[in-house]
Amino acid sequence: MSNGDVSQGRRRFLIGATSVVGGVGVVGAAVPFVASWNPSAKAEAAGAPVTVNISKLEPGQQMTVEWRGKPVWVIRRTEAMNENILELNDLVKDPLSKEADQPPYIEGELRAIKDEYAVVVGICTHLGCSPQFRPEVAPADLGEDWLGGFYCACHGSKYDLAGRVYPNQPAPTNLQVPPYRYDDENTLTVGLDPEGAA
Ligand code: FES
Repeated sequence: MSNGDVSQGRRRFLIGATSVVGGVGVVGAAVPFVASWNPSAKAEAAGAPVTVNISKLEPGQQMTVEWRGKPVWVIRRTEAMNENILELNDLVKDPLSKEADQPPYIEGELRAIKDEYAVVVGICTHLGCSPQFRPEVAPADLGEDWLGGFYCACHGSKYDLAGRVYPNQPAPTNLQVPPYRYDDENTLTVGLDPEGAA
């Protein structure tokens, strides 16, 4: 069971973090994936499913867990966040994720089994940096059109809060959605398909 690493706002993925950390996230620049993320040999070797307790995740927060040596983000989206995602349907490159790496049971604009929780692999589809969680609307550095999303500081790729990339970015496709399922209301397992969905 992993409680993951909870953050609110910009935060680098912390190596091997397993405890829940509430409150204000650490502000820091994203660094290349290879430098910011060194999977534990144990997790990498295992490639095993990871069970995550999401009960402490507050609306608007992001938590990170490790799966197959990759950071996987779980974001508890507010209704306003989801409305903003839908507003961006005509502005993102692949609104229905036809070209994206995601399981067949992930459909639609919000790209989630339950609209409230996004689950995506936190690795930029350009060259593998880990983007920053930038949920705020219209921050000074991202402009007044920004409705929340993920920003990859390595080469500037921008994604919305469903991990859908904007056009004309270095990143070619939307963020990957891993296989996952809900075991109960507060527990999900990354790396396993829902029963009957495989
Ligand atoms: S690695 Fe993200 S924009 Fe290049």
